[in-house]
Amino acid sequence: MDCGIGTLIVLLHLCVPFGEGSPMEFGANSGLRRCGRVYLTVSSSQDTSLELNWITDCVHPDNLKPDYVALYNYDVKDRSEEAPPLVKIRASDFSSGYYKTKIKFGHPWLPGNWEYRETLTRADPGPHCFPYWIASFRGSNIIDTKCLGIQPTWMNDNRLQIGTQKIGNLFIPGTHNSGAFNGVPKFLENYILNQDRSVWTQLVHGIRYLDLRIGYYDGDGFYVNHDLVRITKVAQIFKEIRKFVQLAPKEIIVVDFHRFPYPSNFNATLHEKFVSLVYDYLGDLALPPGGLQVGKGPTLNEIWAQNKNVIICYADKAVARENYWLWQPLQQHWADTKNVDNLKSFLSKAIKEHRVTLNPMFALMAELTPQPIDLLFRTNNLRKLANDVNRKLTMWFRDEWARDVNIVATDYFLGNDVINVAIDTNINR
Ligand SMILES: *[C@@H]1O[C@H](CO)[C@@H](O)[C@H](O)[C@H]1NC(C)=O
Repeated sequence: MDCGIGTLIVLLHLCVPFGEGSPMEFGANSGLRRCGRVYLTVSSSQDTSLELNWITDCVHPDNLKPDYVALYNYDVKDRSEEAPPLVKIRASDFSSGYYKTKIKFGHPWLPGNWEYRETLTRADPGPHCFPYWIASFRGSNIIDTKCLGIQPTWMNDNRLQIGTQKIGNLFIPGTHNSGAFNGVPKFLENYILNQDRSVWTQLVHGIRYLDLRIGYYDGDGFYVNHDLVRITKVAQIFKEIRKFVQLAPKEIIVVDFHRFPYPSNFNATLHEKFVSLVYDYLGDLALPPGGLQVGKGPTLNEIWAQNKNVIICYADKAVARENYWLWQPLQQHWADTKNVDNLKSFLSKAIKEHRVTLNPMFALMAELTPQPIDLLFRTNNLRKLANDVNRKLTMWFRDEWARDVNIVATDYFLGNDVINVAIDTNINR
């Protein structure tokens, strides 16, 4: 990979203003990586506080540096409202472009009629906002504004721009241990849960890759596991995936049955039983790989032409070969480190050195991992580690690696802006 050219292309792509939330109060966009561009994240810690983020590391340090950054519960561009902001800070007091507010996001209902219920039959396509908007100002001029929102139908919304891209070349936002979001005793949560939103909520936000580890318990059936700890029955997760693609039929979801940690001898009988359960729930939605697992795989247009939405990857090669609708194992690059610098150099190397496998896609596991000693001393729990790295992930994938990645799976994904970075990258790739 030519880093010089790669970086230049990333910078050029960032100068293209995106979406509706790009007011051009200053005329032509003079900065490449525009100063004062804003986005909201949700803290990965228990408090779920809203976090203000703005770009300070500008390519052209011009006069677009914001004077202040504020949080509103309405769209500040809609000048008919004049209520004061919830939070307002001087940007120069926070040179890293980050401020954690005391406003709790919690677990609000999903806008656009996307809140999950078994009887749900329709929801509103397109992006939707929670009632939180961030804005950056120079004097009284708005530099940029953006809401915290969901992107339930981003693939279809952008089908004209992204339809010709191959699935292995798309920037696909994902979650790590996607099923590990609740259902374990309190004292285990900190080391077992990698998420705090349901699979449904992840999909509604825009996540399109699910990493699932499967366990089998005599009498109780199949569970999503985190290693040896069982978390939740697989059936509910399958129902949510199914419901989601019924409501959003052009979204493509990669479901990766990545490991079968329990029992340790997850034998052929269990695989057969599990595959038949998956087929019952998702078989009719599954895109058979057929001759598609070559090079970077099929384009989105080719997938849409088949009216299938779910790509099911299976970690056991032989089982995948025996079932025409299963894809070969998907390679995950996992650093297994709790050190931020090590993670960055590992990911950078993985991007450069990745070689095509039997499956045209590959996943970067962009999270830190506690080490055994941390469990012993109750240090470096998963929320803390996600907090340590999520902000940096946004910058790495936006400013350095946007062009070269495929699947990026994170912990506590609302703590980073990878979904929006992925969408913007795909539109401009
Ligand atoms: C596979 O494992 C299951 C569950 O432990 C067991 O009931 C079954 O007999 C095993 N099958 C074979 C062929 O070993």
